[in-house]
Amino acid sequence: MDGVKLRLATEADRPAIAELNTRAFGRPDEARIVADLEKAGDVLLQVVAEEDRRIVGHILFYPMGVRGKLGGAGLGPMSVDPAVQRSGIGSQLIKTGLGIMRESGVPIVFVLGHDTYYPKFGFSVEAAEAFECRYKGPHFMALRMRFGPPMSGELIFPAAFGA
Ligand SMILES: CC(C)(COP(=O)(O)OP(=O)(O)OC[C@H]1O[C@@H](n2cnc3c(N)ncnc32)[C@H](O)[C@@H]1OP(=O)(O)O)[C@@H](O)C(=O)NCCC(=O)NCCS
Repeated sequence: MDGVKLRLATEADRPAIAELNTRAFGRPDEARIVADLEKAGDVLLQVVAEEDRRIVGHILFYPMGVRGKLGGAGLGPMSVDPAVQRSGIGSQLIKTGLGIMRESGVPIVFVLGHDTYYPKFGFSVEAAEAFECRYKGPHFMALRMRFGPPMSGELIFPAAFGA
């Protein structure tokens, strides 16, 4: 983590973020999701980790709709340069991003991802249990930021994630 700085992403970071996502995931799908979310205006927050002026980490939060109720946020995609994975950059991105979500008054954050990774940050399958979506299962988790609505309902993902 030495020498790594976190900051908000800017428009100029787009190509580097796309390249990082493609490399970290080993396919172009997540870079396309990021581009589609941006195009549709479905982005709440993007934070990047920078080392020697190179972007080595990225995290995105998007608005998550709950049918007929107050919405929340979704986390992802997120990626860290394979050369510097497992050095704490992903953790810093998640903690910083969640801190901003909490300060912004977001009631609940959802994530679809590694079931051994996100629980380290407080995400659980139980917190997502009362919500309906096609991803429901051991990899779909939530982190409640505060008690209160929405407590249940059908989740509406941005169009970038497919119909
Ligand atoms: C997942 C990812 C973002 C993690 O970033 P990172 O900077 O390597 O994570 P950290 O160094 O902060 O790791 C934090 C902890 O999670 C563990 N961890 C890291 N990657 C993990 C993984 N894929 N599965 C389970 N645990 C993982 C680390 O060992 C560490 O555990 P510890 O705190 O007990 O030592 C990164 O591996 C990545 O970009 N992977 C490819 C893209 C991807 O899968 N993105 C997430 C989609 S859900």
